[in-house]
Amino acid sequence: MTSADAFWMPFTPNRDFKLSPRLLASASGVTYQTVDGKSVLDGISGLWCVGAGHRHPKIAEAMKAQIDTLDFASSFQVGHSGAFKLADRIASIAPKELDRVFFVNSGSEACDTAMKMALAYWRIRGQGHRNLFIGRERGFHGVGFGGISVGGMINNRNAFGTSLLRSDHLRSTWEPATQAFVKGQPEHGYEMADELENRIIALHGADNIAAVIIEPIACSTGVLVPPKGYLKRIREICDRHQLLLIFDEVITGFGRTGNMFASTTFDVLPDMILFAKTVTNGASPLGGVIVSRAIHDTLMYGPRHMAELMHGYTYSGHPLSCAAALAMIDVIEEEGLLEQVNLLTPYFEEAVHSLADLDQVISVRNFGLAAGIELKAKQGAIGERGFNAQALAFKHGVLTRAPGDSLVFAPPFITTRSQIDQMVDGFRKTILETA
Ligand SMILES: Cc1ncc(COP(=O)(O)O)c(C=O)c1O
Repeated sequence: MTSADAFWMPFTPNRDFKLSPRLLASASGVTYQTVDGKSVLDGISGLWCVGAGHRHPKIAEAMKAQIDTLDFASSFQVGHSGAFKLADRIASIAPKELDRVFFVNSGSEACDTAMKMALAYWRIRGQGHRNLFIGRERGFHGVGFGGISVGGMINNRNAFGTSLLRSDHLRSTWEPATQAFVKGQPEHGYEMADELENRIIALHGADNIAAVIIEPIACSTGVLVPPKGYLKRIREICDRHQLLLIFDEVITGFGRTGNMFASTTFDVLPDMILFAKTVTNGASPLGGVIVSRAIHDTLMYGPRHMAELMHGYTYSGHPLSCAAALAMIDVIEEEGLLEQVNLLTPYFEEAVHSLADLDQVISVRNFGLAAGIELKAKQGAIGERGFNAQALAFKHGVLTRAPGDSLVFAPPFITTRSQIDQMVDGFRKTILETA
């Protein structure tokens, strides 16, 4: 019998988990099977990544064919066709002006990579003093030192505080008094973006700021949806002061909002887009930064024998991940997954808001196939109720995650209405029983 001791689990209370491990054995479509044969519906698409459902045959076939042909090829001064094809393909589906793609292996690496690109860009333009980054409270951009610096989740920064990069943060757009049970985007609050100009730029000076980095929807913190017009206003302020705008689409990218990118959904063009997760349907690690031609071309600088950006990872553009991603983009297009997200969204919205009648529920928020159901926090023990609910939901056959006291609901794009109903039913039982 394998012991549970050696594996130090990430983002997990290890001592608690190991008292009663939740072990998954297999998966298919929208359903996991546990080691003891129980079915659990995937209410969080694995970890926001399995949009097309588990073990999609086209993705599995593409990966099998790839491992039998070319298992590994570096992208340092050699290459393989899969990485070039994938970059072309991503450029063709990204907003038009963004057509250069740098591959990494995760969302965290994408964030740190984009921050390096921003610093290098300003340096080449003779403005190396622009080295302050602006993130947002409750934002999540992974766990690299760049990502936690611009991130706004206190527990992720606390222990490492003295090592953070220079950063400041916009306030979160969350306003419980007016947004608690809003469906989709709040009508009011776009003017919260003005803080970028009125406080941040006024305090630090635009000339010192390298970039503003935000998630179009702050998903990891429990799904905080931007008020209508907020993102456009941020873009306008960035333009007025020549700040780079980076959208972290690690969760929203590749379909969750009903378009390939939330930048398209919200009709706002950033200078860089970060992606990861759904790009391979979670089947193999891959992330990246999609960069505007202008930034890319500025960075194509220096002697011909020198790499223009001294940056990259052994597994940047790994053949297996590229094969998985090419197959995933085919699946999204050929199987009409974006249309499916758009069709399912109104049903999903009504279903998740049906939980608003429960006493313990203090907010329900949603956009596309992402929702947060916030529970009343226990006095003096923020997060405990959410933590207990997450474990209980698993017993009731639904996989979810609980940032703080919010339960996240983000099913695969292929989920049926009846599976949505079953999951909502599981959430209802869970919330009623959660102490
Ligand atoms: C918006 C966002 N950015 C970055 C990350 C980090 O991605 P990874 O865990 O692949 O490093 C996440 C992970 O959930 C995320 O939600």
